[in-house]
Amino acid sequence: MDFSSYVTSFRSNLCGEPDNSLIGQEVKLCGWVNKRRDHGKLIFIDLRDFSGIVQLVFDSKTSVHSYKLAKTIRNEYVITVTGVIRKRSVETINTSIPTGEVEVAVMDMVIFSKSKTPPFMLDHRDSVEENTRLKYRYIDLRSDQMQENLRMRHRITQTVRKYFDSKGFVEIETPILAKSTPEGARDFLVPSRINRGKFYALPQSPQLFKQILMFSGFDRVYQVARCFRDEDLRADRQPEFTQIDLEMSFVSVEDVINVIEGMFKDIFSHVTGKELNIPFKRITWQESMENYGSDKPDLRYGLNIRDISHIFKKSGFRVFSSVLERGGCIKSIIVKDSKRFSRKDLDNMVGIAKGSGAAGLVWIKLDQDMKFQSPVAKFLSDDEIKVLTETLNLEAGDLVLIVADDFLISCQALGVLRTHIADKSGLIKDGEFNFVWVYEFPLFELGSEEGKITPMHHPFTRPDNETLEYIDNDPLKVKSQAYDIILNGQEIGGGSIRINDMKLQKKIFSLLELSEEKIEENFGFFIKAMEYGIPPHGGIALGMDRLTMILLNLKSIREVIAFPKTQSAVSLLSGSPSGVSEKQLREANIRLVDDM
Ligand code: AMO
Ligand code: AMP
Repeated sequence: MDFSSYVTSFRSNLCGEPDNSLIGQEVKLCGWVNKRRDHGKLIFIDLRDFSGIVQLVFDSKTSVHSYKLAKTIRNEYVITVTGVIRKRSVETINTSIPTGEVEVAVMDMVIFSKSKTPPFMLDHRDSVEENTRLKYRYIDLRSDQMQENLRMRHRITQTVRKYFDSKGFVEIETPILAKSTPEGARDFLVPSRINRGKFYALPQSPQLFKQILMFSGFDRVYQVARCFRDEDLRADRQPEFTQIDLEMSFVSVEDVINVIEGMFKDIFSHVTGKELNIPFKRITWQESMENYGSDKPDLRYGLNIRDISHIFKKSGFRVFSSVLERGGCIKSIIVKDSKRFSRKDLDNMVGIAKGSGAAGLVWIKLDQDMKFQSPVAKFLSDDEIKVLTETLNLEAGDLVLIVADDFLISCQALGVLRTHIADKSGLIKDGEFNFVWVYEFPLFELGSEEGKITPMHHPFTRPDNETLEYIDNDPLKVKSQAYDIILNGQEIGGGSIRINDMKLQKKIFSLLELSEEKIEENFGFFIKAMEYGIPPHGGIALGMDRLTMILLNLKSIREVIAFPKTQSAVSLLSGSPSGVSEKQLREANIRLVDDM
């Protein structure tokens, strides 16, 4: 760190700076009181700023005034001291902090600001309830961990900005008071005072505007963009979050992927100091579902899903054969060292499979004599047991988990179990970063409304040319030119090549059963813009919060956001959302209805 740029008229050095090279020098320091220890004739204070902690010594003999003042000092007071750096005696050296070989003999002190007793001590942050940390966020943010998290995030943003600038991207801001964007979540609405009865929608992403910037000839744009989505929150979801969002003209999937891999390489070398190997692995959506039961596969461990349908075509075990008769399949995973799983663990796995929509889960443990131990063993023929053992190369002590169901259900249920088992068995090594692209997504999926299809990404995603022929008769077979980037089993970004052909765009809208009025109302302005000459284009958006969280090996994105909301979308710091005055409601032309 370059300390010299922090010199101001208030201070000569930072708290993290003093070391043997400064011995004998007079310094002026500012900071927060981390801890005070009163040893009678000597008082010790640990003074803290963002750079570190240094020990101050107040001596009743040599500095009477400061010593007296130090008696009144409490944690989190903000003070400044003038003093001389001196070496600590050998037995008082503190090896746990970088400044631990020296201390400051204080000559003078001024209190800038007192503090009430803080609700928690920063040294005990890990054992403090998150809600308390969120309510007193200004104290929590003083901790080493939060300082490091937000500074890391800053370094990522800076690297990204430099990188895109070097690749000819222009950073352009787009409206926050916008119209609904088609990312599939609920919109946050803002009433217009001037246009009575009308609402702005906060953007779920800058999707339509970044495409319009391509229509406008900017060639490539990016933005560190705030996005707003009113959806159920989880550890990796916030109602407002940040995307690194970009769009490029005259590009194919390959071009977008290359630019993003270059960006990750830069982030790794500049921010974490690690060399990243590119290109990343790429797998199709179909392969991802088949082998890992998820479109966000975690490739840091094996436990791949294996198809065993062919073994049970003529099985007397109706659970299996009936599923095959109706066109379903039988999938399995093999887990080593089954002894560590108790009956309770196995029952729990059955519950997890059912919770993911499967009708059930068959488990088979192989004992030392290769005998099948399972509630269903008696229903399996000797031949089935033999072929299963050979096909899966089973060994004594293995555990086989089997789900028979429709393709997606059986894969997904085993996918969830795969992650569960990897977590429980400690198969995941900290500090490993595994990137994978998932591509060739289906263009559509079945929606929640019976028989209706919805876009898997958004309605402007370009279909893949090779499967376009199915668009009229079997649209679920059409693949898209969409891609997601997955890091350690979490989706950190997604994008696509877009439609730049009006006829095709209208066709997609009609398949989605969007009426002319609905199209006009939602994206009329966008469709109109498409009529004036638009380039082939595509782009992607990366979840900045998720990326930072994973790079720092954290479990919640709230840890990388200065002022996040809770799981119930509340800011415990500011108290938002909150009621507003009658006058404000009247101006916004809103009347609250009690009985809703
Ligand atoms: P998508 O909806 O996949 O794509 O979003 C891109 C990435 O943003 C992150 N993300 C979130 N992070 C935190 N909280 C949330 N609520 C949240 N929702 C999404 C994810 C996700 O991968 N317009 C398209 C991109 C494009 O096609 O160019 C879009 O927004 O990491
Ligand atoms: P049942 O005949 O419903 O008692 O099921 C017999 C066994 O098969 C139980 O252990 C169930 O958990 C399991 N089972 C039921 N349906 C399925 C399925 N679709 N896939 C895998 N196992 C199943």
